[in-house]
This record gives sequence, structure tokens and C-alpha cells, in this order.
Amino acid sequence: MRPIKIAPSLLAADFARLGEQTRAVSVAGADYIHLDVMDGCFVPNLTLGPVVVAAIRAYSPLPFDAHLMIRAPENFIAPFAQAGADLLTVHVEVCPHLHRVVQQIQALGVRAGVAINPHTPLAMLEEILPYVAQVNVMTVNPGFGGQIFIESMLPKIARLRNMAEELNPLLDIQVDGGVDTQTAPRCVAAGANILIAGTAIFGSGGTVADQLAALRASIAA
Ligand code: DX5
Ligand code: ZN
Repeated sequence: MRPIKIAPSLLAADFARLGEQTRAVSVAGADYIHLDVMDGCFVPNLTLGPVVVAAIRAYSPLPFDAHLMIRAPENFIAPFAQAGADLLTVHVEVCPHLHRVVQQIQALGVRAGVAINPHTPLAMLEEILPYVAQVNVMTVNPGFGGQIFIESMLPKIARLRNMAEELNPLLDIQVDGGVDTQTAPRCVAAGANILIAGTAIFGSGGTVADQLAALRASIAA
């Protein structure tokens, strides 16, 4: 069975203490740092850019995964790579030339991922699947943390895992949005192997270490 990885999303962290919180989840045993980049255009919110990624890079040895919820992401591949992103995930909905963008990412020595909104059919990924390291299945509509998990995404994850068996058996499947101790085990059962979680880790339920441990325990059960 694939090891299950946990990727805390800094969107729910205290932005006044971003470096400190990045270090806290890293020390507590997270596997990736998930960075939500929003442009106020593709999604109705604004967050952070390459300068912020560069500023916190020294606080963690973990791979940084920048989830680009921005239009024309091709314009920002190089700046995020230079800032220290190890993975760059772009949305299929904003990339008419997705194969080109994936090549652009990989040419910089960065792993490429593709994210897919809840309403977007998996068929949009069929041709690109052999070329990418990971797919981020959005389980909320992107733009905000703390939203309710969309239940109908569970069979979508299972169908994607089936597609991947044929087209890219090593594919990492991430789930993003509303992932907590209740939904995480169901996502794993459906075929996801990277759990992105913001509120469930940085929310008010205890220390980040305790909440990370609780999330991990929920999938071990
Ligand atoms: C939403 C982002 C998510 C978000 C998840 O657009 O892509 O990464 O931080 O937050 P929670 O875990 O609070 O749903
Ligand atoms: Zn995200």
C-alpha cells in the first residue's frame, strides 16, 4: 500500500507567524508544505506570491508544493521555482496549453502537478496523466479554507485512481478542502495518498502537533 502523506496548508496558519508555523508542522512530522497561491481572478481571494515563499523557505526542509490558483500560471512558474517551490500544481481550467506548462515546470527541475475543480470532469486529465507527478482533486471550490467537504468527490477520487492504474501507476493523488479526521480515512479508502489540510491542523483544536497526530491516527485506524 502507498504511504499516506500529510500536507498542511498554510492558508489556515497565522500569517503573522508564518515562518514559525511552517517550522512547527515540519518538526511535528508533516510530509509537505502546501502553499495556496490565489490571484483574485481565477478564485475570489488573494493570498501570497513568490516573495512569501522565499521568505519562509529557510524554515523547513520539507518539499514546498505551490498550488497555483491563478490565471496564466505560465507567467509565474520561474519566480516560484526560484523562490524554492519543489512542486508546482496548476489548474487544468486555466491552461489551454497544459502540456506546455507541464514541460515548462519540469524544465526547471520542479515536479509538476495538476489540480481539478469539483465540477471539472476527469476526462480533462486523461491525456496529461502520464506526464504529471500528482493530481490535486479539489474537494471544495477553491478560494477559501474552512469549507465543507463535497461528498460526491469520493467516487471521483476512486475513478481517478482507476485511471491512474493504467496511465500512471506512480501518480500521487492529493485531496484538498475539508479534509479532517472524519473525511481523511474515506479519501484514503477511495485512493488518495496525500492529504492537504488547513483548518484541521492550524484550527483551534489544539497544538499543530496534536492536530497533525490526530489526523494521522484517523487514517491508521
Ligand atoms: C482552498 C485551498 C486549500 C485550503 C484547504 O482553495 O486550496 O488548500 O487551504 O483548507 P481546509 O483544509 O481548511 O479546507
Ligand atoms: Zn490548496
